[in-house]
Amino acid sequence: MKALAINGSPRNGGNTEILLTKVLAPLEAAGWETELVQVGGRAIRGCMACKKCFETKDMECIIKNDILNETVKKMSKADAIILGSPTYFADVTAEMKALIDRSGYVSIANGGLFKGKVGSSVSAVRRAGALRAFDTMNHFLHLTQMVMPGSTYWNLGIGREIGEVDNDEEGLRNMNHLGKMINWLGTSLKDNMDKFPK
Ligand SMILES: Cc1cc2nc3c(=O)[nH]c(=O)nc-3n(C[C@H](O)[C@H](O)[C@H](O)COP(=O)(O)O)c2cc1C
Repeated sequence: MKALAINGSPRNGGNTEILLTKVLAPLEAAGWETELVQVGGRAIRGCMACKKCFETKDMECIIKNDILNETVKKMSKADAIILGSPTYFADVTAEMKALIDRSGYVSIANGGLFKGKVGSSVSAVRRAGALRAFDTMNHFLHLTQMVMPGSTYWNLGIGREIGEVDNDEEGLRNMNHLGKMINWLGTSLKDNMDKFPK
């Protein structure tokens, strides 16, 4: 099984990446193939509302010169998708929002590319606003018919400078448990995909 983590932070090795890595660790231990894709800090523009994806229905966005389409391809192949974003002005980064809007439309235009997958989101935050960022990503997971596992707290980790999130013991414990929940849910769903509502 495959888990894809998508990092919406422009800071390589930053707090969001640390959180995502903590979620992936139990999945790797359980034998999952994992991949972390960097979206933050890379070229990815917003949706143009051209609705061409509803005409072409080729599982791609008409904007071909950025990383969206290769990321959608990876998302389509994954059994679990974990979105990560630092909290920026009490919400997700611009790159994460562009990914949500465009991959969401491509998914809907093609009958639901992500339906039945496990979907989770995590946010790194200095002080406040992480729940909004978490909600923004969860709205996408919900509307694209992914299945969200709970954990022991909402999926946020506290830290400002790179690495500070390592001091948030409760946050890290929650990430570890989340990884285990994704494994449990993902392996359960896998055996039941033939029963997914038409
Ligand atoms: C543009 C910008 C906006 C931010 N807005 C918030 C905010 O609303 N609330 C907050 O607590 N921290 C805010 N932060 C701090 C980051 O969320 C925090 O440093 C986080 O750990 C960064 O994660 P990263 O290392 O993965 O980039 C902001 C940082 C930046 C650069």
